[in-house]
Amino acid sequence: MKHIKIAAVAGVLALAGAAYLARPVTAPQAGAPAPVAAGDAIVAVSMPALEGDAAIGQKVFAARCAECHGTDAGGVEGAGPPLIHNYYEPNHHGDAAFFIAAEQGVRAHHWRFGDMPPVEGISRAEVAAVVAFVRKVQRENGIY
Ligand code: HEC
Repeated sequence: MKHIKIAAVAGVLALAGAAYLARPVTAPQAGAPAPVAAGDAIVAVSMPALEGDAAIGQKVFAARCAECHGTDAGGVEGAGPPLIHNYYEPNHHGDAAFFIAAEQGVRAHHWRFGDMPPVEGISRAEVAAVVAFVRKVQRENGIY
């Protein structure tokens, strides 16, 4: 009888140990960005003074891109990533990537926001102005 009790206790302890080891890890991973609420900016951006193409690009961006990427391109939680981010510095995503993104859309690969749809009816001149805007803001924020 005593042996059965000991075996039962050992069994319970083994199960508890297994449950402990299998518990979900909820602690944020080191280096993960702080959680942000849906609709909030993902990164804080400082805005330089803008003129010429960059100023035009800012307006185009506000009308065609900001809904997902944020008015200052700092991203929108739940909608789209910040373009003021190391991923999008010119050596990783050259200017051509912006034209292709606007014309053909983007399959989700760096983030968890889903695909970017093509931006209907935007002209190449408008995208060029957006690139001037984004590069200027990237430089201001030390991306490159
Ligand atoms: C409906 C939401 C939405 C709109 C509007 C939108 N984007 Fe995006 N965009 C996304 C998402 C989501 C991604 C990230 C895809 C991924 O996971 O890598 C993205 C990625 C990008 C990329 C990276 C492309 C690559 O090769 O990885 C560029 C550049 C970009 N967007 C530019 C723009 C520009 C410029 C506009 C406006 C003309 C715009 N986006 C409008 C959602 C959007």
